[in-house]
Amino acid sequence: MIFGRIKSLDAILATAEKKSLHRSLGAFQLTMLGIGAVIGTGIFVLTAEAAQKAGPGMMLAFVIAGFVCAVAALCYAEMAAMVPVSGSAYTYSYAVMGELIAWMVGWALILEYAVAAGAVSVGWSGYVVGLIENAFHIDIPDLLVRGPYDGGVVNLPAMLIAGLVTWLLVIGTKESAAVNAVLVGIKVTALTLFIILALPVMQMENFTPFSPLGFAGVSAAAASIFFAYVGFDAVSTAAEETKNPQRNMPIGLIGSLAICTIFYLLVAAGVIGSVGAQPVSGPSGQALAPGSVELAKQCAALGDQAVVCSKEALAWTLREIGWPQIGNLIGLAAGLALPSVILMMMFGQTRIFFVMSRDGLLPAVFSKIHPRFHTPYVVTILTGIFVALFAAFFPVGKLADISNSGTLFAFAAVSIAVIMLRKTDPSRRRPFRTPAIAITAPLAIAGCVYLFWSLGVETKMMFVGWATIGLFVYFLYSRRHSHVGRGLNETHEDDSDTPPLPVPPLPGIHTPGGKDA
Ligand code: ALA
Repeated sequence: MIFGRIKSLDAILATAEKKSLHRSLGAFQLTMLGIGAVIGTGIFVLTAEAAQKAGPGMMLAFVIAGFVCAVAALCYAEMAAMVPVSGSAYTYSYAVMGELIAWMVGWALILEYAVAAGAVSVGWSGYVVGLIENAFHIDIPDLLVRGPYDGGVVNLPAMLIAGLVTWLLVIGTKESAAVNAVLVGIKVTALTLFIILALPVMQMENFTPFSPLGFAGVSAAAASIFFAYVGFDAVSTAAEETKNPQRNMPIGLIGSLAICTIFYLLVAAGVIGSVGAQPVSGPSGQALAPGSVELAKQCAALGDQAVVCSKEALAWTLREIGWPQIGNLIGLAAGLALPSVILMMMFGQTRIFFVMSRDGLLPAVFSKIHPRFHTPYVVTILTGIFVALFAAFFPVGKLADISNSGTLFAFAAVSIAVIMLRKTDPSRRRPFRTPAIAITAPLAIAGCVYLFWSLGVETKMMFVGWATIGLFVYFLYSRRHSHVGRGLNETHEDDSDTPPLPVPPLPGIHTPGGKDA
């Protein structure tokens, strides 16, 4: 067998069938779930990074990244509806492409989730520091609120929020559906307010030159801003709880991505039109990389008077156009809503580690459950330490790019798995079928490869380094300890000690571990 050890899809599905989830989600609820999971640091913070890479051309970057996500989401939905168990892309790959690929996907998902949680923590820090400085006129030294690449030493608030969320996850805090809905409302209201205030003062000359760094700049911005759409997998993993998934799943996925794209385009137009978004260049006119020491220096020389210099692009823009109080409110909205994105990302990470540990690929201590809180506390604390360290020392854009490299790898693997399974197992029941798969899946794979390629050289090298470490760990540890390799082809979805999901998407959803949300 070319792919070596494959985890039996039937064994996985047998457990999933036992769960017999209640189908309660309609198209509207799925769309809301998607919007809630997606809107975060991407639009609130990375807009400034995208501007530095593409200028006004970042609008095109939002469209490209949104399109790649849409086709990948359609592939994701087919797998999610067929294999509705935890572990997402890792589990799908295990069943279709075998253990080695599954391991690599799981290893890449560490980038997607843990590094993304670090990125959102840094984004949160930028807004909260801006809010404290502007609303309370307290000057916080840059040294303590920025990492070494960004003109500081350590980003203490970002570490703090990562620690706080870790603690919430360890004690098993569950965000109620109502809190989730309120946070979605806060984010959407903040963006709507921004659009209403920024669009009327738009000046068309701010849109020229539209693409100062050419199409390469637009591609680079698309590869970074892809981060703004990550999180829609929350919709596809709810496939089994969806009424009429064949109809509602694509509406939920495409609907939430379309709505986010429209919001993102209007917000981007508002930033560009009202304050201008041309990249800041170095003393000799050269393009400066976002998150670089050179850009930080140049921004300091300009007195931070450019949106690309801001750590809180939307709040900064509103202050510039004469709405300082509303700018502070946007900061407050980000401060309240972004921790829930960190929580979802960190939870996703602990769940992937948990499943990999239960498969024997990671040490058993990773799936140790706290006797009182019933949470996988060892792996949660370990994840929290790494997230806090990433957040303390790296700038948001670098973390987002690294996270994107892992996500793009996982999305491409899922798109390949969907095509393969159509060939090897055509008659298996598919609650949702990817429309026009002959076009959709190749487009998703090509889109992921294109965006991956458009990431910076440093990011790609880090990804290769990370994958190489992953291969070493696999061959030195995981391969020998694998349960499938040792002939133990079990699944654990219904184990009574499986920790429940902390963020029940909506009321009435059955979660693994037998508890209803
Ligand atoms: N899409 C999420 C964000 O922008 C990860 O923060």
